[in-house]
This record gives sequence, C-alpha cells and structure tokens, in this order.
Amino acid sequence: MAQASLTVDPDFSIGRIDPRLFGSFVEHLGRCVYEGIYEPGHPAADEHGLRRDVLDLARELGITVVRYPGGNFVSGYRWEDGVGPDRPTRLDLAWRSVETNAFGLHEFMGWIEQVGAQPMLAVNLGTRGVQEAADLIEYCNFPGGTELSDTRIKNGAADPFGVRLWCLGNEVDGPWQVGQKSASEYGRLAAETAKAMRLVDPSIELVACGSSSRKSNTFASWDAAVLEETYDVVDYLSLHCYFEERSDLASFLASAVDMDAFIGEVIATCDFVKGRRRSAKTMKLSLDEWNVWYEERYRAERREAWQRAPHLIEDEYSLVDAVAVGSYLITLLHHADRISVACHAQLVNVIAPIRTEAGGPAWRQPIFYPFADVARFAKGQSLQVSVRSPLMDTVAYGPVPAVNAAASHDHETGQVAVFLVNRDLQATIPVELTLAQARNLRVSHHTVLHDDDIRAQNSARDPQRVTPGPGRGAVLEDGRLRLELPPVSWTTVVLTENRR
Ligand code: AHR
Repeated sequence: MAQASLTVDPDFSIGRIDPRLFGSFVEHLGRCVYEGIYEPGHPAADEHGLRRDVLDLARELGITVVRYPGGNFVSGYRWEDGVGPDRPTRLDLAWRSVETNAFGLHEFMGWIEQVGAQPMLAVNLGTRGVQEAADLIEYCNFPGGTELSDTRIKNGAADPFGVRLWCLGNEVDGPWQVGQKSASEYGRLAAETAKAMRLVDPSIELVACGSSSRKSNTFASWDAAVLEETYDVVDYLSLHCYFEERSDLASFLASAVDMDAFIGEVIATCDFVKGRRRSAKTMKLSLDEWNVWYEERYRAERREAWQRAPHLIEDEYSLVDAVAVGSYLITLLHHADRISVACHAQLVNVIAPIRTEAGGPAWRQPIFYPFADVARFAKGQSLQVSVRSPLMDTVAYGPVPAVNAAASHDHETGQVAVFLVNRDLQATIPVELTLAQARNLRVSHHTVLHDDDIRAQNSARDPQRVTPGPGRGAVLEDGRLRLELPPVSWTTVVLTENRR
C-alpha cells in the first residue's frame, strides 16, 4: 500500500495564525438572518428574537469574526433603516427580496456579543459614498455628544460599539453589483472613504475590494489599479472564492489547488504594487468569502421575486463537501503569513454549516466539523509541512497529492495540531508523520470524519448522519506518528506535552 510521509518541525514556521482566520459571514440574504439567527416567536428565541439554538452552534463552531450585513446586499443598503423604532420595508435589489429591516445594527451587535466574536462591518460603496460611511462609523464608534452618537445612545447603546474592522464596499467590480464601478472609480472612492472614516476613528482597520473572483476577466489588473489608489490607506485587500463539483469528483476534491494559486496571484499583485511604489508596507489579505457553493444549481433555479426571507442558496452538503472545505482550511493555514482575516460564507442556511427550519430544529451540516476542529485547535504558529504523498489524477489539475496537511504549534502550551485530508476516492493511505523535537508528547485528540457513503448528508430528520468519530490506531513513537487515513476523509490529531 502506498504511504504518505510528512515532516514538521516547530522551528520551521510559516507565520502566526491570526485567530480572525476563523471568521464567518451573515448577510441579509434568504434565511441567513430571518429564520436563521433571528426568529422571534421560535421556541428557542430569547427576548430579542435571537435563536439560542443557533447561538449555541455558532459558539461551538468557534467563529471569531462575523462580516455583516453583506455581500451584495450592502451595495443598496441604507444602514439608518435598521436602527431606531421606525423600520421601513424596502426592496432589496441584490437578491430581489423584501427587506423588513426588523433586524439591523443594534440587533447584530447584541447577537455578536453573545457569540463572543468580533464584528466586521461593510459600508455601502455601491449606491452610497463617503458621507454615509463616515456617518455610520460616527454612529458606531463615537462616544457621544453629536447627533449621530447621541442617536445611538437613545437607541439603547450607551457605549460605543467600537467596531475595528471595516470593508470598503463589496465586489464592486461585479456586473451583478448594484453600483458597479471601474477600478479607478472605486479606488478613488475607497481611498476618500478610508480617509474620512479614519478621521472619525484612527484606530480602525480597512479592507479594500479586490476582484470578486479569480475567473473575473479584470483580475488582477483591477486589484493592482485599486491598490494604486488605496495602498497607503487600507490594511487588507479582499479576495473571494467559491468552488463546486463541475466535472470529475477528483478535480473538485483537489480544488484547493486552485485556491492556493489564486492566493499566490493576489499576493504577487500586492507585492508588485508594493515594489512599484517602493513601499515599506506589506499588504495583508482578507479572504472574506470562501466556501463550496453550487452556483450552477442556483443559476438554474426558478425563483419567485420579492418575498420576505425566501429559501435562497440553501445548499445541502455531503461528506465530499466537508473534505473539500477541510482542504481549503489547510490552504488558509499554509498562507497564515499573509492572510489575516477569512470569513467562511455564510453562517446559517445560505451556503452554511448551520441549517434551520422555521419554528423547528437547527442542525450541523458536514462542513461544520472541519471548520470547528481548525478553529478550536489551530493556535500559535502555522508550520511548514513537507508532504510526500501518492498522487491522484484530476482532469482540472493533472496529478495532485492525495494527502494534504497543515500543522500548528502553540509555544505557550507546547501543543501541536495536525489537520489532514485524504482526497483519494478509493485508497486508505497510511501516513508517517515525522515530528522534529517531539519529546514528551502524547496523542490527546484524534478524530476522523468519514462515511462509507461519501454523499451522505445531515438533515432535520437525521441531523447526526455524518459526524466525526474517534480515530483509531494512531501510534506515536520516537517522534513518528503513524496513522491511516480512510478514502475521502478529514482527520484531526492533537499532540499535547506531558507536563509534570
Ligand atoms: O455569499 C453570497 C454572495 O456571494 C455575496 O453576497 C457576494 O458578495 C458574493 O458574490
């Protein structure tokens, strides 16, 4: 049986893992907010209409940052509609839905506090501009004594929200965006908006929109042109990527190859602008939307327009999707030196790890588990992992290593975590992982997500159909960890120091 050989050494680090890599995304889209995180009258709802069952799952998932309120939605959004006692019902042009505005800024801030995560707010640079963005940050972050900050206090928030992380619009390059712009139009607007927002609160961090997709025909010239205008006034450039099974399953399971190439190209573009400007600053990335999304199915769906909280993009995920998501998490950790923020899109119902029924239960989709493992255990430094693995053939990428892995090392606790995927459709692959400096470690956690039916899914009726099980047979001896990876599987192993 062909074996994979992996080597890690705590002295060979890629970079510090920013906890904000384990972010999520809540958009006013379909049933992410309404019937997702918020459903007054639901048996599990609190006095503010927040579903406690969903809150529990969000905490269990371990999300650290949540991007809000969009997405495409934000490009036509008036934030004032979602604060105060009068909430106008409006048309949401992005998703051709009716938005009641029952849930808005204060409700989101109350929800995120309960999750224990940090907010990442997006301003509307589609139909709006500098003034509305400056107003929003004054409303959120200015202590008091001005009309906007006093209105926040009147609306129930005596203390400023202190929102640090802000997105300057969303996917402004996309023809689907309400208020699409050219790179130079957007770059100027983003730079001026950044200037005004920083005048209100100099402590904020700002994300400029990069290309909405690697497939966009203006990628990466858009990114370079936007950075020419914004390099000195923003902290991050955004990138978004979604994958789906289109042709052979092997190519889908290997699609992290595409994600890795995309991240590399965005880094190269940032560094090109850095060089051209002779800048001392290195631009970091915000991968603020990523996931599996069956977009072709979405495009083919017949949809009734102008409904409240319609069932939109409620992809049902299987084990195959969970293994793909695991491989994207591995790729994220491989780029921990340049990616500071990442948002798994989205949190509930819409391409989401958590699903709900109106008035009914909430449950975990299989993609929940790899995310929860990495958010829980990937602490400290992301380590370089040298991988020698049997190859698998793919139509899209040629031969690709079937096994891929990421590892982390926490200097404070001495804990090493290893995350592995086996993307092969048939073969169980034995792995030998050599751990340099592995004195006094023991296996403290070993779980495997696998199923004989790789298309198995969870549902309201069978919410535990796909769950991780205990890993068996891992042996750690003389700095070598030996274990077996079943076909199409996700494995997490944690090694803890025996301390006396
Ligand atoms: O996450 C769904 C949508 O995908 C977002 O609204 C948009 O930003 C992206 O195109």
